[in-house]
Amino acid sequence: MRVLGIMGSPRRQSNTEILLDKALEGAGEAGAEVEKVLVSKLKITPCLEIYACLKDGNCSIRDDMRPLYDKLLEADHVIFASPIFFYGITSQAKAIVDRCQALWVRRHVLHMGGEDKRVRRGGFISVGATRGEKLFDGAVLTVKYFFDAIGVKYAGDLLVRGIGDKGQIEENPAALQDAIRLGRELVSGTKDPS
Ligand SMILES: Cc1cc2nc3c(=O)[nH]c(=O)nc-3n(C[C@H](O)[C@H](O)[C@H](O)COP(=O)(O)O)c2cc1C
Repeated sequence: MRVLGIMGSPRRQSNTEILLDKALEGAGEAGAEVEKVLVSKLKITPCLEIYACLKDGNCSIRDDMRPLYDKLLEADHVIFASPIFFYGITSQAKAIVDRCQALWVRRHVLHMGGEDKRVRRGGFISVGATRGEKLFDGAVLTVKYFFDAIGVKYAGDLLVRGIGDKGQIEENPAALQDAIRLGRELVSGTKDPS
């Protein structure tokens, strides 16, 4: 059982990374093999809307997205983590999402991947500095459709308001515990909406 964590904040030891690490710790406790990918280490071109993917579901851009497609398809469960930047996810995280148009094409246009019968679950982790009611609405919608594109069920999320300074999330032990629980439940299947 493999769990892939995508760390979408450009800064290291960020609130997002701290929460993601806890979630991966929980997934590990539940028996999963975990891997963390840092968007800040990848060079990913935004989608160029060439639509080469319509031919066979493969994107024609050669960059760090290539190995990430494999990781996204091979993982049993995915934890996607990004802070809120202007009511959405970070540009780095969004580039990954947009490039998954190729995987959306595979599923919804070319009808590929039907042989994969696994129930794959996804969890979303996010933080934002402010406290507005709609703070996470845009990001949650984006991630729901991202998970659909990669064939993962949106199983749950951890969304924490009022977190702005680097590492501030450490002062919120309840959120850290919630992150561990999210990772654990993603693997155990407790967080399965179906
Ligand atoms: C470019 C940028 C845009 C941001 N936009 C928002 C926003 O729209 N709403 C909000 O509440 N916080 C916003 N923030 C604050 C971050 O979400 C907050 O500092 C968060 O804790 C950063 O997470 P990190 O430590 O994981 O990188 C923004 C920060 C940056 C740098």
